Amino acid sequence: MKNVTRLSGTLIAISFFVVCSAQRKTTDQKVDSVLKLMTLDEKIGQMNQYNGDWEATGPITRDGDKQNQIRKGMLGSMLNVTGVEHTRQLQEIALESRLKIPLLFGQDIIHGYRTIFPIPLAEASSWDTSAIKLSARIAATEAAAAGVHWTFAPMVDIARDPRWGRVMEGAGEDPFLGSAIAAARVKGFQGKGLGNTDAVMACAKHFAAYGAAIGGRDYNSVDMSDRTLWEIYLPPFKAAADAGAATFMNSFNDLNGIPATGNKYLQRDILKGKWNFKGFVVSDWGSIGEMINHGYAKNNYEAALEATTAGSDMDMESRSYINNLSKLVKEGKVKMALIDDAVRRILRKKFEMGLFDDPFKFCNKEREQQQWNNVENLKAEKIVAEKSIVLLRNENHLLPLGKQTKTIALIGPFIKAVRDNLGFWSYQWPDDTARIVTQWQGIQNKLGSNARLLYAKGCEINDSSQSGFAEAIDMARQADVVIMSVGEASDWSGEAKSRSNIHLPGMQEELVKAIYATGKPMVVLINAGRPLIFNWTADHVPAILYTWWLGTKAGDAIADVLFGDYNPSAKLPISFPRAEGQIPIYYSHFHTGRPATSDSDRFYRSAYIDLSIYPQFPFGYGLSYTDFTYSDITLNKPIMKAGQSIRATITVSNTGNYDGEETVQLYIQDVVGSVVRPVKELKGFQKIFLKKGENKQVSFAIDVNELKFYDDQLKYIYEPGDFKIYIGGNSQDVKEASFKLQ
Ligand code: BGC
Repeated sequence: MKNVTRLSGTLIAISFFVVCSAQRKTTDQKVDSVLKLMTLDEKIGQMNQYNGDWEATGPITRDGDKQNQIRKGMLGSMLNVTGVEHTRQLQEIALESRLKIPLLFGQDIIHGYRTIFPIPLAEASSWDTSAIKLSARIAATEAAAAGVHWTFAPMVDIARDPRWGRVMEGAGEDPFLGSAIAAARVKGFQGKGLGNTDAVMACAKHFAAYGAAIGGRDYNSVDMSDRTLWEIYLPPFKAAADAGAATFMNSFNDLNGIPATGNKYLQRDILKGKWNFKGFVVSDWGSIGEMINHGYAKNNYEAALEATTAGSDMDMESRSYINNLSKLVKEGKVKMALIDDAVRRILRKKFEMGLFDDPFKFCNKEREQQQWNNVENLKAEKIVAEKSIVLLRNENHLLPLGKQTKTIALIGPFIKAVRDNLGFWSYQWPDDTARIVTQWQGIQNKLGSNARLLYAKGCEINDSSQSGFAEAIDMARQADVVIMSVGEASDWSGEAKSRSNIHLPGMQEELVKAIYATGKPMVVLINAGRPLIFNWTADHVPAILYTWWLGTKAGDAIADVLFGDYNPSAKLPISFPRAEGQIPIYYSHFHTGRPATSDSDRFYRSAYIDLSIYPQFPFGYGLSYTDFTYSDITLNKPIMKAGQSIRATITVSNTGNYDGEETVQLYIQDVVGSVVRPVKELKGFQKIFLKKGENKQVSFAIDVNELKFYDDQLKYIYEPGDFKIYIGGNSQDVKEASFKLQ
């Protein structure tokens, strides 16, 4: 019996080799030939994914049971396993399995691997899709060099609630901007295509509507109309799919009562059906099993049935598939065709990655070393970080500061912070601190011995003590200018980091007031992974930079901006509220029957009687050291016929004292519709660089594609009628023109 097994094993290996080495076969044919050799258990194994032991013993799994499962072909993929050595060891175990199908190694490369880039929300503030693509490209290059095949990014969830901690992982509130950024990130990660040794598979997540968790509470339910789903939450996913995203991840939330993981409408009808997505869907961590907690499945057996039926191809960590699918298939509850479809999708990616040809393709020590301390990547990081810093206020042109400033007081809990600069979802490499440029260091690097730098922490991030105030005030009094660095702790945003109170925490705003009272000119840097509320600071402090979390070179990037070596150009990708009670606040809301049009017109209007109708800072807002003025809009014709386009042109002039970059934003409003339409929607943007005194014409071509929407039957249509065009430097401060669609 033993001999027979060995013989059939050899035959399988030979036929497998013949199959895989036949160059003329298409990938699908190769996939099918492998599939034919597989037992049901081996197929289910491909649909199973386990975590490494990252937190326990290091990045490789030392769990004997998991290793045995790999040997038996019971595992298709692992996450949180990284490093050439470790991935090689595990891949070697996979090659001991009967069919020698290589493992896929996935990791959350959210904003950099070794070189940490700004958090995604910060990068989104650049509105610079080339910079964002470059950041993803570098992350992929570094990760792929360390044996990683697959990143669980980009996160493309639209988020309109800054209480939600995961707002930091996405591109903010707007589907148009979010779609452009989603595509850029996918292209960046996947580079010239899967199979290149510097490309990782992208994973658009979390499908879908996770960002609309009720109350901004992570993992919470989502209840929304289909129109909102299609118009606001799905477009970035569609853009990611169109850009070629290899995989999707589903989400923890239920959508209108059906958990996304068990949601056939989302995964089969929309993603794999209407969008013809050819990649595979991985569940979110344990989300198949969590359908039991949702009260949607009685046990893991039912959960496995729901998830496979709905189109979740790979089970991340819940073990529902590995323990139940075989029984479900044998009982006829899950059709073999569904299993085959899932396995085909997974194998196809393994082929496309080139892992069947060379399972160790990503295990090159030299490449890993080269990327580990790549200084070019650090240079790029600083550039992206500079582009991500938003100038919120600059009264009397206090910024940029002169490099000859003699004495500068640096005050606040973030001035000397180290790892905080990286933000959530960044790796804790033990020797990383040497690479991180703190704000203190960045300013020192910039000024050398020219300036006297004073330091006082002043207070902790979230403490009730004011005992450090006196020292900080004393430092401020001795200085020509004060730079304060305040914010929320870096691990207060990210997964499971929802907050009900998003004010500047602890005594920090009190410290800002105390320093302000010294009468010294002051700049405040705000470090955060979400829009915070800091009304007093916003109303009083002359210069404010929103620095988010900027990554490895944070300090140098901030110093470049403070001292004028980079003129800020970023624009907010999300509205900043004045109070938690104003959330959700977003610019593209509907007109109500009683719209409030200004703060002096709130009587019996849709407004709060105790709060402004405006956000503290609107979507698209961000200043420059120079001033940009906008001419009126000219249209090449007043009437547009379907099939034609219309051209809206505006002249932007740099009337200030610096060269600078502006993001010109186009918004459109459909004045009367068969369903109520938003007051305005972003439909285009262009970044232009203008030298001091220079002006440029900026044109947007508009055709019916910019005018389409989902009607009450969910048809994507346009309707003849009146449209308004708005162009400006943010969503609030715009020029206006009108045209008619016939
Ligand atoms: C998160 C995902 C992440 C996964 C793997 C989950 O908890 O929701 O975004 O990719 O863990 O780390």
